[in-house]
Amino acid sequence: MNEWFEREKKVFIQFFSRYPLLIERGEGCWLYDSEGKRYLDLIAGIACVSVGHGNEYLNAKIREQLDRLVHVSNLFYTKPQIELAEKLKEITGLDRFFFTNSGTESVEGALKIARRFTGKKKFVSFVNDFHGRTMGALSVTWKEKFREPFEPLIKPVEFAEFNSIDSLERAVDKETSAVIVELIQGEAGVFPAKKDFVRRIFELKEEFEFLVIFDEVQTGFGRTGEWFAKNIYGFQPDIITLAKSMGNGFPVGAIGISEEVHGGIEKGDHGSTFGGNPLACTASLATIEYIEENDLVENSREMGERFRRGLERLDFVEDIRGYGLMIGVGVGDAKAFHEHLMKNGVLVNATSEKDIRIIPPLTISSDEVDFALTAMESWISSKSQ
Ligand SMILES: Cc1ncc(COP(=O)(O)O)c(C=O)c1O
Repeated sequence: MNEWFEREKKVFIQFFSRYPLLIERGEGCWLYDSEGKRYLDLIAGIACVSVGHGNEYLNAKIREQLDRLVHVSNLFYTKPQIELAEKLKEITGLDRFFFTNSGTESVEGALKIARRFTGKKKFVSFVNDFHGRTMGALSVTWKEKFREPFEPLIKPVEFAEFNSIDSLERAVDKETSAVIVELIQGEAGVFPAKKDFVRRIFELKEEFEFLVIFDEVQTGFGRTGEWFAKNIYGFQPDIITLAKSMGNGFPVGAIGISEEVHGGIEKGDHGSTFGGNPLACTASLATIEYIEENDLVENSREMGERFRRGLERLDFVEDIRGYGLMIGVGVGDAKAFHEHLMKNGVLVNATSEKDIRIIPPLTISSDEVDFALTAMESWISSKSQ
């Protein structure tokens, strides 16, 4: 075993099972391990590295800001923070923003804002939704294995069946503060919401006066072939939560809210020491600029289509889900498939015993998509050997 794996086993809290690779370097869509072997990265740091590894445009902006100013806290005004909030306003259509360091923190803030604005306590989430690991976000995360050992969490929370209008109607009531939803469930294995179902959430919002929170931590910033998954559905939430690819892997997230919801906020309701520091905001601004200037939202749509067309031709593929470069694939034996791909220089993430997820950098080229498809196709011949 690689000596670094042994060292890790002795000193690291063992929350994660890792792939047996020591990654040392990245370039574009490729990762290089300690033995110099290269892998096409279809995981992208779990849907984060959207403009590619070692992106020179981004790195130059970060370096420049690093030399100027890293951190002063939210006690002061800084230009990158204000510019980033203006940029997010332009691309999300929400009005006001607060910055965080991760997805789970964005969800924490969103839940607090919803309670503050509505004065109501109850949250409705969905079976198989994932919203993070801190106590509030965990309370609205479905998986019992993640949630139950840490009870009591915040209450009341009701989980409705995803895509079931009946179940949704039973879950919401006058006590509901907010419905939080992943429009495309990412961690569960890429399961999109149906349009009628999303429409019904908004009809019920009118009746019961709750807020709608779209958790776009995973779906944001071009991943789905639209800037945000909400553009696919044509609905605007009261609150949006963002993180992951917002800074290409640099830890930065955001909560976006409407002007109306901002009316319920008081100074001191929430805070963060690091949230929105000039370095993180510069990383995010440069990431967004790079996506814009290189038409990566369009590339996400086109390369997603190329993947889908290629996958449809593979006999063992049972099911293809998702939008753009957020693709869930039923392959039968996900572990064996993933191991075969790794041997052949392609990294994918198994989301269940039978499903894998394809979430590469949005910079991926058609040659790279074809490289991945060829490796996938070779699984059939390797099985018959
Ligand atoms: C939809 C969604 N929300 C929230 C989170 C939590 O984000 P983080 O791991 O940055 O705390 C994730 C992470 O996978 C996510 O996919």
